[in-house]
Amino acid sequence: MRPVSGAGKGPGEAAVAGIAVEVQGVTKSFRVDGRIVKVLDGVDLAAGAGEFVTLIGPSGCGKSTLFNILCGLMEPDEGKVLFDGQEVTHRAGRLAYMPQKDLLLPWRSVLDNVILGPEIAGRPRAEARREAQELMPLFGLAGFEHSYPAVLSGGMRQRAAFLRAVLQRRPAILLDEPFGALDALTRASLQEWLLEVWGRLGQTVLFVTHDVEEAIFLADRVYVFTARPGRIHLALDVRLPRPRSRAIVTGPAFSALKEKLLAALSAGG
Ligand SMILES: Nc1ncnc2c1ncn2[C@@H]1O[C@H](COP(=O)(O)OP(=O)(O)O)[C@@H](O)[C@H]1O
Ligand SMILES: [Mg+2]
Repeated sequence: MRPVSGAGKGPGEAAVAGIAVEVQGVTKSFRVDGRIVKVLDGVDLAAGAGEFVTLIGPSGCGKSTLFNILCGLMEPDEGKVLFDGQEVTHRAGRLAYMPQKDLLLPWRSVLDNVILGPEIAGRPRAEARREAQELMPLFGLAGFEHSYPAVLSGGMRQRAAFLRAVLQRRPAILLDEPFGALDALTRASLQEWLLEVWGRLGQTVLFVTHDVEEAIFLADRVYVFTARPGRIHLALDVRLPRPRSRAIVTGPAFSALKEKLLAALSAGG
């Protein structure tokens, strides 16, 4: 658990206390063309309150399916989901979700895109807009409030989609490969930026990635999935000091973790 450094006025107003998220024995199959395809097989994982946990594994191993279960869009066939120790399997959904595609609405300005959550929840628009405005500088979007998504760079679109998820003010946030489509430089700078924002907001984060360095750089713990049906092949604690800067990726501790992770990925694939 970490202190929420940004609590109080300013951007910290969006701070929410994180919750512990636990997945126990989650199994899920789909019926595809009359066949049953098992996608998740007895998945166990846990994120402590305010922790940053990353999930990595081959395409199709069920990572997005697990996120759909965690945010209540789907139910597991077996197993449980717990928030702060309370079972919520059939009433999950208290989590913010940034899906794999950013899904910004092209006909809405950046500002009106990011306040979608509060707006749907019935909060006054003026209040939601004020709160969003305060966070625009932290999200590198100041001056673009009234622009439309089409004029944004890839990195800006992802930051806008992330701000939209943050403004749902949920105690945990699910990020599904948010940086997957970005070039390496943009991705590296967004990783450092994301850690800074996370440090201020205090939410629990679950983050799916395909990138081994990204998985380690961001995380308190990395879960490595096997190929479908997805099982947890390895849970790797990352005890690198924070705040982290790019320089750690060339250090020996980081390299040792990377080696373990790569070995687990090739063994589980
Ligand atoms: N609603 C669904 N109906 C049928 N099959 C699905 C559905 N959602 C996902 N799948 C299948 O489940 C598997 C895992 O998908 P997904 O969770 O998206 O994997 P990942 O995110 O790890 O790449 C894939 O084979 C996908 O086609
Ligand atoms: Mg996916």
